[in-house]
This record gives sequence, structure tokens and C-alpha cells, in this order.
Amino acid sequence: MDRVTRLDRVEQTRGRFTGPPLTPRTAVIWSVLRAELDRRAEAELTVLDVGGGTGGFAVPLARAGHRVTVVDASPDALAALTRRAAEAGVADRIAAVQGDGDALAGLVEPAGVDLVLCHAVLEVVDDPAAVVAALATALRPGGAASVLVAGRAAAVLGRAMNGHLDVAAALAADPAGTAGPRDTLRRRYDASGAAALLGAAGLVVEEIHGVRVLADLLPAAVADGQSAALVELERALAAQPPYRDLAAQLHLFARRPA
Ligand SMILES: C[S@@+](CC[C@H](N)C(=O)[O-])C[C@H]1O[C@@H](n2cnc3c(N)ncnc32)[C@H](O)[C@@H]1O
Repeated sequence: MDRVTRLDRVEQTRGRFTGPPLTPRTAVIWSVLRAELDRRAEAELTVLDVGGGTGGFAVPLARAGHRVTVVDASPDALAALTRRAAEAGVADRIAAVQGDGDALAGLVEPAGVDLVLCHAVLEVVDDPAAVVAALATALRPGGAASVLVAGRAAAVLGRAMNGHLDVAAALAADPAGTAGPRDTLRRRYDASGAAALLGAAGLVVEEIHGVRVLADLLPAAVADGQSAALVELERALAAQPPYRDLAAQLHLFARRPA
């Protein structure tokens, strides 16, 4: 694609971000990201998505005219991302890099990124503090971080409501918030613990929202039959304790001081 054509397309796509269809999994996060994208509406942002998987966030961001690098450990996820980017016509705006989040510091240039995403990854890496420190180092001063982590309280309630009281008790008692060696996650967070993790890396947490306060608790017939109402209710409850703190995931939006 020649430069003029590419610039034309960016002109058409950048501006107020509309984004993909909203679901209970994504609506609250996109609301927060949209505010940041609107704030920087005239800029082509450099975005880093650590553990970005198949591009659920990377592709819409590239379609909005930004440049996105996805670092992910899984070659299969990156292959799917590459296909999806091509289908969306944004292959030239997305770089797929196979790499370990724990080695992020060696993969990205310091202070070159406007927006870093790290969604559903800190629960599985070896050293979350080192990963968050690398995220902070990658950001330009004034750049923003969108971090999504598994919520601890929701996991305890979920296990108990399914009748697994012993697992719920183990999860509640474990300092890391895991249910033992068979748990697929290595840790879970509450809002204060996640905020402290980001704060220790020098990031200033601006907002914390709950993601999926209700969605996982509802019968499928209710969730599917009233999906628009559910999205609205999720958005209404997301910032309000105690609802926020019972969400399946916690979304933190933070900034590297300018
Ligand atoms: C639960 S998925 C989340 C994908 C995406 N961030 C999202 O929210 O839709 C976790 C992703 O992290 C990747 N991942 C897991 N461990 C990783 C690591 N140590 N370094 C980099 N990526 C990792 C997986 O391959 C997977 O794509």
C-alpha cells in the first residue's frame, strides 16, 4: 500500500473511537480506553499489548488508526492474530512478537509506548512485579496502562456457589488467591493489592473498575436474552464498591507520571 493510500485510510479511521460491539466482558474496559483514545484523538498512538492473544483489543485499536505491537508467548495465538489483522485490513499496523511477558524488559524499547495493555496475564506470569515494572518502563512519561486481573472474591464466591466449599475455603485462605496446584491461575487480586502492585512500579492508578460483576452469576438464558440491559447494568455497577470488588476481573487504568 502506498503512503498516500495508507494515510487516507488513517484519516478515515482515526478520530472519535467507536470500537467493536460491546459485551459484558469488554464494555467497561472499552469505556475506559475510549476516554483515553478520545483525549488523544488526533494522535497515532503507539500501543503495546502484552499477552494480547488473538487481537481482541489489538485489531480494533489498529482499525482506529493506531500502531499496535502484540507480545504473546503462544505462536498459535499470534498466528490467529495475524489472520485476523489481515482480514480486518490492518496487517500493516500490527506487529506480532513471540515472547515471554517475564522477559518483556528485553523485548521493548524504554519510554516509547503511549498505551500499554496487559489483560489477563499477570495471573500466569512468573514474576508479576517484574512484568509491571517492564510495562512502566515501556511507557512514555504521561503514557497510560490498562491492566486486567482476575478478582479474588468472585473466585471464592463462584466456587462456593457451585458447591465446592473446600475449594472456596482454600482459595480464601491462600495468600496468592489460588485454590492449589490444580488451579489454572497462579494468583488473583483484590483492588488494593492490584493497585499496590502498579504503584510499586511508579504508576499512578487513576481508575479501578469491576468487569463481569454479574455476567458470570446469571443463568445463560437471562444473560443472552437481555444482553443490552446486562451491559448497561455492568457499566452502572463497575465503579461502585462493593459491586466492583465482587467482579470476576478488576480493570486498573494507570499512568506513568509526566
Ligand atoms: C487469557 S489470555 C488473554 C488474552 C487477551 N489479553 C485478552 O484479554 O483477550 C492470556 C494470554 O496471555 C498469553 N500468555 C500467557 N503467559 C504468557 C507469558 N508468560 N508471556 C506472554 N504471554 C503470555 C497467552 O498465550 C494468552 O494469549
